[in-house]
Amino acid sequence: MCGIVGYIGREPAAPILLDGLAHLEYRGYDSAGIAVCKPGGGLEVYKSKGRLEVLSASIDGGVHLPGCTGIGHTRWATHGEPNDVNSHPHVSEDGTFSLVHNGIIENYLEIKESLQKNGVRFTSDTDTEVVAQLLAYYYREGVDILSAVFKVLHRIEGAYALGILCADQSDMLIAARKDAPLLLGYSEGGQFIASDVTAILRHTREVSYMEDGEVAVLTREGIQVYNSLKQPITKERHHVDWEVSAAEKGGYEHFMFKEIMEQPQAIAKTIAPRIRDGQVHFDGLNLTEDAIRDVKKIFILACGSSYHVGMVGKYMLERLLRIPVEVTLASEFRYCDPIVNPGTLAIVISQSGETLDTMAALREAKARGAHVLSIVNVVGSSIARESDDVIYTWAGPEIAVATTKAYSTQLAVLDLLGLYFAKIMDTISPETYTEILEELQRLPEKLEQVLAHKERIQYFASQYFNHNSVFFIGRNLDYAMGLEGSLKLKEISYIHSEAYASGELKHGTISLIEPGTLVLALGTFDPLFDKALSNVIEVKARGADVLALTTEERAADMAKIASGVIAIPSTHQLLLPSLGVVPLQLFAYYVALNRGCDIDKPRNLAKSVTVE
Ligand code: AGP
Repeated sequence: MCGIVGYIGREPAAPILLDGLAHLEYRGYDSAGIAVCKPGGGLEVYKSKGRLEVLSASIDGGVHLPGCTGIGHTRWATHGEPNDVNSHPHVSEDGTFSLVHNGIIENYLEIKESLQKNGVRFTSDTDTEVVAQLLAYYYREGVDILSAVFKVLHRIEGAYALGILCADQSDMLIAARKDAPLLLGYSEGGQFIASDVTAILRHTREVSYMEDGEVAVLTREGIQVYNSLKQPITKERHHVDWEVSAAEKGGYEHFMFKEIMEQPQAIAKTIAPRIRDGQVHFDGLNLTEDAIRDVKKIFILACGSSYHVGMVGKYMLERLLRIPVEVTLASEFRYCDPIVNPGTLAIVISQSGETLDTMAALREAKARGAHVLSIVNVVGSSIARESDDVIYTWAGPEIAVATTKAYSTQLAVLDLLGLYFAKIMDTISPETYTEILEELQRLPEKLEQVLAHKERIQYFASQYFNHNSVFFIGRNLDYAMGLEGSLKLKEISYIHSEAYASGELKHGTISLIEPGTLVLALGTFDPLFDKALSNVIEVKARGADVLALTTEERAADMAKIASGVIAIPSTHQLLLPSLGVVPLQLFAYYVALNRGCDIDKPRNLAKSVTVE
């Protein structure tokens, strides 16, 4: 989705903005632009469709632009096709205001029509341009800049993070937020705004998170924030402890590969602080032990891969807690009149903490009386702040659009949570508790073993990358894991792929199996291994190429039937997806590599989906 960065300080702004935008590229975009205040007054705006390099090359990396106040944007088109004119920053007709915007202005047509009746001429097809034109319109009526901004915010409806420059005031940058992420950064050399902390991490780690309705005025000296009533307020500052290098490739060809390889450490970092003396601890949870004993139903709400974590979580939590767990797509939850009774816990899962559908589901669950516990990777993100409880995954910044280490760490948190709840609910024996916890602690080491066999997966990818259609089949936890394997493959390699519960094959899907169809048969879950084998025989009989994933113990049996076998070490059966998903991530990665795809920035996709 769109990215925003803004700077005001003593250094020329353009190179800082371009560098910030480069760190936002991973979010997905189709055009980019910057605007800087000229030192003597006026604005310079440069924008173009396509990659950031195109923009950067057209202005020599910004080194000849002297202005020290500026805004930058990467656009992911919603209103109006991707082209130079629709790119941000947008400028008012009279050239007074320039701004960048993330979100959607829902009543833009009505405002546009009324401004047009007053003689204002529009140049773009975007919803954003109305904000710039309306600002200039109010400003021309004689109010000061800040008052004009507040008047605009009262008039527009929808979601926005805004960065605003005025040609008459080169030493000021204004920011505003509602339902779209925006943070403020403080440094010796100047002040920043950003939609994502990675854009400014090189310059500062001292940040404040803007809340809905707030407006910030940035000058070279500092930042003054106002609440929605235009009263000055003091913002709490937070220190971000992500390493700058964590958001860089560090010698790897792709962020995705780097992040796959980081999974052992990410899991260790996520679980270690929560295990002491052989017990799971979640310090500071608002959900009391009594309240946990009263939980009668769990909803898991999430999108995409986070939803797939929930699917694995359902099998695992129901097994451990013996209460119903319903996994619902966040985008559906608020429209399905969900039944939330006393004793309902909503577990919300989101890497970014900014996914709009997930946020809407969270609010719906809360409004209906559920306690909301979120599992989030980005500290201070909107979902983290609106939840009753938040448990952070310590995966570090995840840059590749296709998630890998966030998935793994989310799963590890759910495993810990399952153990923690089961002990309080008294649904687990001490032996099983200890066995699972010890196996959880061994995951990083076992993952290293899985990663050490990456060349074997690379080999299979080189054999199968030309297939046009791939089916992932499995039962129970293998089915849940297959959902993620299939998503990984389709999102980065553009191969059509579906995941099915093996039992469903006979009910329709098997008609699609023909000689040469590739089937990834997932048979790690030992209690159902024989059934997995039968399904392999079934699809082989119809001519499918079968690449199977199973445990080392079962590899020899599987090899008698499957065309190729990938084996993972054994672990407690509830933890198998944590190991099994990694070869599937690697398979998707190598297939995409063979097909020459843009792995870190797949077409049409965005890292954080902040529109509905
Ligand atoms: C995963 O590879 C995808 N990029 C996507 O499905 C993602 O998991 C989904 O958009 C949810 O994002 P979140 O975890 O940040 O809420």
